[in-house]
Amino acid sequence: MKKLMGAIAAIGLMAVALTGCSAGAAGGGGGHKVITVGFAQTGSESGWRAANTQSMKEAFSSKNGFKLIFNAADNKPENQIAAVHSFINQGVDAIVIAAVVTTGWDDVLKEAKDAKIPVILEDRTIDADPSLYASWIGDDFKKEGETAGGWAASTLGTTATNMVVLEGTTGSAPAIDRAKGFSSSIAGTSITTLDSQTGNFTRADGKTVMEGFLQKYGNKINLLFAQNDDMGLGALDAIKAAGLTPGKDIKIVSIDGTKDGLTALSDGQFNYVVECNPLLGDQVASVVKDVIAGKKVDKAYTAKDLAFDQAAAKEALPTRKY
Ligand code: AHR
Repeated sequence: MKKLMGAIAAIGLMAVALTGCSAGAAGGGGGHKVITVGFAQTGSESGWRAANTQSMKEAFSSKNGFKLIFNAADNKPENQIAAVHSFINQGVDAIVIAAVVTTGWDDVLKEAKDAKIPVILEDRTIDADPSLYASWIGDDFKKEGETAGGWAASTLGTTATNMVVLEGTTGSAPAIDRAKGFSSSIAGTSITTLDSQTGNFTRADGKTVMEGFLQKYGNKINLLFAQNDDMGLGALDAIKAAGLTPGKDIKIVSIDGTKDGLTALSDGQFNYVVECNPLLGDQVASVVKDVIAGKKVDKAYTAKDLAFDQAAAKEALPTRKY
């Protein structure tokens, strides 16, 4: 009997030691508990998004003390709400959301709050009551639009200019805010909007929508505002196929500052690019850790964005990270 009790005690001790060991190893040492985070990403629509996903996965690594449950919603709001529900049901320690659209969040965020799971917004803002999330980390989309529009106003604002716009995902914060910012900067200039349609932040749709614009307006178009690089890059094919020269016959201003976007600028096919920094992972991870530790965090952290003309793009390209 004594021998049996001894064996049971030994097995128990081994189990405790093993559990402690695995938590400690995954937690980066020191025996810290692994933080399980559910990340509801929009999808994989653009080069910017690929860089953002990579930055998040690197920051929320097991070496940094996290277990990441990643979901990409294919840019469908209903998929994203379902993912957040599933994170709540799995009892994660925190939820991070890059929201496809600004609306429709209240109910699921209330559920997360009732389950005492903090929510941190990444990249995109939403319309919900701010008490339903702990913090937001992202870029100032309105300012990006203002900067892009400021370039258009100062370069083309005194000559009659017909503009077409490739909008991002309808109802998304960047599509809404970049449009507002751009409009405010070109107000009172001689730039008029011929047409504005969504290209869903993708190259394929940017090309298709631009083909439609060209069929409808032909060589009346002087300026394209692409709300992200990918749509502008897709439009290049349509413009060339129509026998026009991008960057000359049709000036192009876009937002993101990906390697591909800056290459098009350096080649003279784009004319101006405003940066939107996707490398947010480390800051989001640090805010998540602070929130879980009960530390006070700011309600909003805004990344700094640059803007590029052709010379600046040539200089930036050799060391560009995304
Ligand atoms: O929310 C950021 C935007 O989403 C980027 O500009 C775009 O490329 C992405 O898909």
